[in-house]
Amino acid sequence: MSRGALRDDGALQGYPTSWEIDRFLLDGEPVHIGPLRPDDVERLSEFHAKLSSTTVYYRYFATHAVLPASETRAPHRARQPGPDGLRRRRSRPAFGVGRYEWDGSSREAEVAFVVADGFQRRGVGTLLLERLAAYAREQGIERFVAELLPENPGVIRVFRASGHWLQESATDGVVCVTIDLGPPA
Ligand SMILES: CC(C)(COP(=O)(O)OP(=O)(O)OC[C@H]1O[C@@H](n2cnc3c(N)ncnc32)[C@H](O)[C@@H]1OP(=O)(O)O)[C@@H](O)C(=O)NCCC(=O)NCCS
Repeated sequence: MSRGALRDDGALQGYPTSWEIDRFLLDGEPVHIGPLRPDDVERLSEFHAKLSSTTVYYRYFATHAVLPASETRAPHRARQPGPDGLRRRRSRPAFGVGRYEWDGSSREAEVAFVVADGFQRRGVGTLLLERLAAYAREQGIERFVAELLPENPGVIRVFRASGHWLQESATDGVVCVTIDLGPPA
C-alpha cells in the first residue's frame, strides 16, 4: 500500500492525527481543524461551489466556477499531509481552507486562505494561519509570502493581528506580504 493510502478501516496511513484540533470560533461555535486527506476532495469541491464570486475573486484573482485543478492536488500528497487546514468533522461541510506551497527546501512558502462566506470574521482565518504557521515552522519554513488584491482588506488584517512581523510591498496592482514566522520550532 502506498503512503497516504486509505486503509480498510478508513484510517489514513501516515496521517498526522496530532495536528487535528478542536477549537472555538469567536462566537463560541466549536470547530474541528486538521490536515486535508485524499477523501476530502469531494468536500473541497462542494465548499468551493458555495463560495460567493467576491470570495473566489479575492482568493484566486479570477472567478473560477469550479475548483481549480491545482487545489485538488494537495490531498493526494498525503505522504506529507499538513500544509492544509480544513474543517473536517466527518458529516459536516468544510468552512475554510488554508494552504501553503513549498518547494521542500527553501525557507519560504506561499500561503493562501479561503473561508466560507458565512464563516468569515468569526476567527477562522486567524486559526488557520496559526495552525499553518506552527506546522510550517516544524518543517523549517521561516517565512510565508502572500499575494493579495489591494481592495481586499480582510486578509491583511488577519496577518497584522497575528503578531508576526510583516513586510508589505505593492507591484503591478498586487500587494505582496512577507510574514516572518520566527525560527523553526
Ligand atoms: C481573508 C479571510 C481568509 C479572513 O478570514 P476570516 O476568518 O474572515 O478572518 P478572522 O475572522 O480570523 O478575522 C481576523 C481579523 O480580520 C478582520 N477581518 C476579516 N475579514 C475582514 C473584512 N472582509 N473586512 C475587514 N476586516 C476583516 C476581522 O475583523 C479581524 O480583525 P479584528 O481582530 O481587528 O476584529 C476571509 O475573509 C476570506 O476567505 N476572504 C476571501 C478570500 C481571501 O481574501 N483570501 C485571501 C487570499 S490569501
